[in-house]
Amino acid sequence: MSFAELHIDRVSRAFGEHIALRDLELTIKGGEFVALLGPSGCGKSTALNCLAGLLPLTGGQILLDGRRIDTLPPEKRGFGMVFQNYALFPHMSVRRNVAFGLSMRKVARAERERRVDEALRLVQLTDHATKFPAQLSGGQQQRVAIARAIVLEPRLVLMDEPLSNLDAALRLEMRSEIRRLHQTLGLTTVYVTHDQEEALALADRLVVLRDGLVQQIGSPEEVYAHPANRYVAGFMGYRNLLPVTMSTQDTVVGNGFTLAGINRDGLTEGGAVAAFRPTDVTVADADGENTVRAAVEIVEYHGREQAVEARLPGGEPLHVRTESRLAPGDEVLFHVPRERVLVFAP
Ligand SMILES: Nc1ncnc2c1ncn2[C@@H]1O[C@H](COP(=O)(O)OP(=O)(O)OP(=O)(O)O)[C@@H](O)[C@H]1O
Ligand SMILES: [Mg+2]
Repeated sequence: MSFAELHIDRVSRAFGEHIALRDLELTIKGGEFVALLGPSGCGKSTALNCLAGLLPLTGGQILLDGRRIDTLPPEKRGFGMVFQNYALFPHMSVRRNVAFGLSMRKVARAERERRVDEALRLVQLTDHATKFPAQLSGGQQQRVAIARAIVLEPRLVLMDEPLSNLDAALRLEMRSEIRRLHQTLGLTTVYVTHDQEEALALADRLVVLRDGLVQQIGSPEEVYAHPANRYVAGFMGYRNLLPVTMSTQDTVVGNGFTLAGINRDGLTEGGAVAAFRPTDVTVADADGENTVRAAVEIVEYHGREQAVEARLPGGEPLHVRTESRLAPGDEVLFHVPRERVLVFAP
């Protein structure tokens, strides 16, 4: 059931002229939870389908414990797949849906029943076993799809945006469920999502993709605190990405905003991008280092906090998340602590 290492060796996939995935290089260890993260069209599903064997590669190879598997058909790889749209059989009961793969593999009846019972128990659907998919909620259908994948005891579980059809509360519940199953069953999981929060919460390692190219591979902590470039930063919640000019080694200027005490190796002069999170901007008491006056334009209510969009003197928007009560039209002095600002190449 398990393996030591799945090596994805410079895997590429083109559709005609368009290269959807370029030279993906990644080694997944048995037991790991890896998330492929990126916006629509960046190549996440392409990567997953290449792993599953649903798409042939146009370059590179895939090795499972040193043995090539990219030439094997999907059913010979021993992987389980959970699709975004569940892909359940509508005319089969929950039980038969889950048993389907085992029946196809001619697993003996007693063994089959035992494994189906266990899978249904794990996803907490025992009481719904005789229902049909149309009689289930979205979250229950999603659990059937997961049960159907894990009942085969796959050595690798591939999930393509499995929670995207669920409402916010159910997404959170199923997210913990997926992590729990991963841990309890000792699965190895590759999970595709465009939701950075989901990826950070679930994965041991993130792979951030853009236009088919890997931007960064790292632990949630690494990618969150040290994004490799402005693109990853934007994706990780650094919503303020301001064009600036590096004036001295540690000062950047732009938008009528001077940010002091900032240092970034290799970027000492010329144009750059200063990145910081809305939650790192505070309302200042008095003029001082790294303060700027901006006009509040939009205020959104988020319970304890407000999401504020203000206009900087240079015309760029400033995104702020604050517990201070602000109103449109307010002229406010904001502050960004120097240690919270990252500077990237433009
Ligand atoms: N069968 C296909 N034929 C032609 N182009 C394709 C095909 N499948 C994907 N592409 C293209 O390859 C690129 C990557 O697609 P992919 O489905 O991997 O994106 P994704 O990251 O999964 O996006 P989403 O979040 O929207 O599902 C896109 O530009 C897409 O248009
Ligand atoms: Mg996709």
